[in-house]
Amino acid sequence: MIKVEKTSLNDLHEIYEIEKSVFKNCWSEISLKKEIENKNFNLNLLCRLNNKIIGYFFSKNVKNEYHVLNFALKKNYQHRGYGKLFFNIIINEYILDGSVFLEVKRSNLSAINFYKKFNFKEIGFKKKYYSDGEDAIIMRLNKKRNELV
Ligand SMILES: CC(C)(COP(=O)(O)OP(=O)(O)OC[C@H]1O[C@@H](n2cnc3c(N)ncnc32)[C@H](O)[C@@H]1OP(=O)(O)O)[C@@H](O)C(=O)NCCC(=O)NCCS
Repeated sequence: MIKVEKTSLNDLHEIYEIEKSVFKNCWSEISLKKEIENKNFNLNLLCRLNNKIIGYFFSKNVKNEYHVLNFALKKNYQHRGYGKLFFNIIINEYILDGSVFLEVKRSNLSAINFYKKFNFKEIGFKKKYYSDGEDAIIMRLNKKRNELV
């Protein structure tokens, strides 16, 4: 069984190790630390399996609007259904109502498919949004209560 909880600074090192192994242009440890510390305006969650962190979700939150900043599963736990379990808990226990926005690389088809499963819709794009020149697809989910996927 997975366990989802809010992040704390004690988790920083483990999260940073995952971040480095998942993303080419990864966040620095300082950026992760700043977001973890920003408790007033952030919803930051992690997912544990057998007590080890296997994924994390960082978002900015103002009223009932959430903007996903970072979401990843540890490499050897990707595509095994854990992301779906984790995200179901996020949107059924932490984000009950409201809109969730995110940007995803146009080429990241597995993530785009993942979000579509949760009823995210493509609402636009940002040209050359990423440092490698790639476009971002903007997606939005209008969340209502109890939408299990
Ligand atoms: C995107 C990510 C969080 C999804 O989590 P995951 O645990 O791998 O996803 P799951 O195994 O739970 O898959 C759920 C659904 O996503 C889609 N999906 C997952 N992997 C896929 C792949 N390789 N190709 C196509 N669709 C895929 C499928 O629709 C899948 O549903 P199904 O199992 O019913 O077919 C994870 O793969 C990840 O960390 N990727 C690297 C970091 C990243 O891209 N983050 C998002 C940045 S915006």
